[in-house]
Amino acid sequence: MSDPPAKPDPAGAFGVYVHWPFCLSKCPYCDFNSHVRHAAIDETRFLRAFETEIASTAERAPGRTVTSIFLGGGTPSLMQPGTVGTILDTIGKRWSVARDVEVTLEANPTSVEAARFRGYRAAGVNRVSLGVQALDDASLKELGRLHTAQEALDAVAIARANFERYSFDLIYARPRQTPQEWQAELKRAIGEAAEHLSLYQLTIEPDTPFATLHKTGKLITPDDDASRTLYDLTQQICSDAGLPAYEVSNHARPGAECRHNLVYWRGHEYAGVGPGAHGRLDIDGRRHATMTEKRPESWLMRVETVGNGLVTDDVLLPEERADEFLLMGLRLAEGIDPARYTALSGRTIDPARIEVLAAHGFVERDGDGSLRVTPSGFPVLDAVVADLAA
Ligand SMILES: C[S@@+](CC[C@H](N)C(=O)[O-])C[C@H]1O[C@@H](n2cnc3c(N)ncnc32)[C@H](O)[C@@H]1O
Ligand code: SF4
Repeated sequence: MSDPPAKPDPAGAFGVYVHWPFCLSKCPYCDFNSHVRHAAIDETRFLRAFETEIASTAERAPGRTVTSIFLGGGTPSLMQPGTVGTILDTIGKRWSVARDVEVTLEANPTSVEAARFRGYRAAGVNRVSLGVQALDDASLKELGRLHTAQEALDAVAIARANFERYSFDLIYARPRQTPQEWQAELKRAIGEAAEHLSLYQLTIEPDTPFATLHKTGKLITPDDDASRTLYDLTQQICSDAGLPAYEVSNHARPGAECRHNLVYWRGHEYAGVGPGAHGRLDIDGRRHATMTEKRPESWLMRVETVGNGLVTDDVLLPEERADEFLLMGLRLAEGIDPARYTALSGRTIDPARIEVLAAHGFVERDGDGSLRVTPSGFPVLDAVVADLAA
């Protein structure tokens, strides 16, 4: 990570996350709430349920001004542009929407066509995030992707032609990936990128086909040292190209950060709509952590019968809220304001712990008092956060 970006903190930022839970096929590494259905999906029925849940969420959290909307998945680019348009119109009817609202749609290169992208733009989407994953056909096959590198690049070109703001995701630290290969792939990706890239190290998630292969030695991922080399290389190449990391896995030109994800990491409020969506809403001065039913058809039934898909609605204790603030905020290069931690929890972060971590070069204080993790601290972020939160 390099110098943190300036931090305009839009007080009152409010995000709406909408989850489309279906994909054409299930990638063997993925543990997102995504499902494959062989029968046709009743998109109109799902749309009605989205409308209902948006309305009921707005009743619980009225009067907000929406600053970002994120249509995530699953594969939201399987939705018809008209469906996306109605979802956005419904949000606009139930809340005020900021004039410069950021509206991102996640797309899989398999489902990208120029006409469809024009339709999304006409519907109000102004940013797309593409799941490219790799620029090498053998790796894409191993990752279980249905597209080739050329198809991914064609999708990026369509994104570029239709949207001023676009980003794409790559997965690195893949089996057998050498630093030389990753360097060449990343530089090629940067040549195709505009202002934002998400670069994730391959994580072996429990209960996925990759986890089984990994356990039985059929899938070997880079060890800690090799992963660290790839991570360091990533930071160096991206910084040199003017795309420093503003978050552990996210790189942007200063000012081009994904505003919606900043809502999460800066601890602002957001509504979660659709199957398995999480939300954080401040109701009567208390922060509610919400989650909806994960299984798409069960969520649908629930919304149709009770008006929302909520299965969890927990009021966070001050210390839980403060720890979440720490966990999310320290992912950002800009760090956190310790005074906000104190305001949330009534506790201070133990100065002795900060001192020890600072002496090891893992954290530092900024002139304005903010606390941030250093480039040497990011590879051990989990341990740093655990130490500060304890
Ligand atoms: C929910 S997916 C959305 C994109 C879209 N469904 C697609 O795959 O093209 C978000 C991103 O998470 C990343 N991802 C998912 N599982 C991962 C894993 N096990 N390790 C690393 N990255 C992962 C991928 O880069 C993916 O694009
Ligand atoms: S990575 Fe994307 S396309 Fe693949 S299963 Fe997960 S959500 Fe679906």
